[in-house]
Amino acid sequence: FIVDKGNHRHFMEKEIYEQPEVISHALSHYVDFHSHEVKPVDAAIDFKSLRGLAVSACGTAYLSGLVGKYWFERYARLPVEIDVASEFRYREMPLSKDQAALFISQSGETADTLASLRYCHEAGLKIGAIVNVKESTIAREADAVFPILAGPEIGVASTKAFTCQLAVLASLSIAAGKARGTISAEEEKQLVKNLAEMPRIMSQVLNAIQPQMEALARDLSKFKDVLYLGRGTSYPLAMEGALKLKEISYIHAEGYAAGELKHGPIALIDENMPVIVIAPHDRFFDKTVSNMQEVAARGGRIIFITDEKGAAASKLETMATIVLPNVAEIISPMVFSLPIQLLAYHTAVFMGTDVDQPRNLAKSVTVE
Ligand code: AGP
Repeated sequence: FIVDKGNHRHFMEKEIYEQPEVISHALSHYVDFHSHEVKPVDAAIDFKSLRGLAVSACGTAYLSGLVGKYWFERYARLPVEIDVASEFRYREMPLSKDQAALFISQSGETADTLASLRYCHEAGLKIGAIVNVKESTIAREADAVFPILAGPEIGVASTKAFTCQLAVLASLSIAAGKARGTISAEEEKQLVKNLAEMPRIMSQVLNAIQPQMEALARDLSKFKDVLYLGRGTSYPLAMEGALKLKEISYIHAEGYAAGELKHGPIALIDENMPVIVIAPHDRFFDKTVSNMQEVAARGGRIIFITDEKGAAASKLETMATIVLPNVAEIISPMVFSLPIQLLAYHTAVFMGTDVDQPRNLAKSVTVE
């Protein structure tokens, strides 16, 4: 069927603004909004008996898997091995049948991800696939398919598929925690309640921050290099922010774990390289603020993406501070995805690049 841009200038913009709706749809497949329980997971993946999970994907899908690793390990005490599919397929990691393998792909056709799937299949592992395109090769070859239900994603830069992948991974990690007895019934209810609130919060955030992100994009477009920092689940998000920015605005951007700053990238800090810090007021906040101080002390300009508590707690001077509402930890990666997507989008629009079809990139990489 035909997909159009509606009232939007680009598919990417449309897909960013669709997120509250599609995430709600995706969540309703995995959680019950009335009882606040997770729905049963496809029996082909028996979380209860697993000793580990091997996750593999490319690009943005890999970064959603990296956030998922934090969740599976925290809520289900399930060790997760994760790698980009182009490394995973060749790295000869020892696999055992008490592990399951999980592949994440919007298109379901990415060559390296498919090759990793086949490698795990040959090793006798049960295969789960988190995909958007249900008729895809990866979906067909999996034992259990976990659809993300994002609807067609046309923009080459992935947005709604990323946050829907996160919503599915969050739901699965709660289901795994329930099956393994590592979260209580009350914790399950609380986490599902938090997920259920997410679409409304995302829609408020999208409306609230749009003008500020547009103005900030104008300033950002003057720079050639950008560093993104984050800790915990904000670390994969920092890499996703950098990936979005380089893909569509062609500004050189790097995403780093905030704690790695001193181990190299700090040498680059000066007034010509803005540092975008993703720091909700979570258990890592103070540590990330101390990294920000190191940046400020070297004359670096900081763009601070935080929440109300974080903004109140930090006294540092910034180039801009984006303040999101205080939200539960499990939904913060999805909510904090919105400013990084909008920032990349508006920077690219301002620079006049081809937002939906950036140079040298294909929506689906079907060759190695
Ligand atoms: C994301 O913005 C990229 N265009 C790219 O990294 C993409 O996520 C990657 O190629 C994986 O694609 P897939 O999800 O269809 O497997």
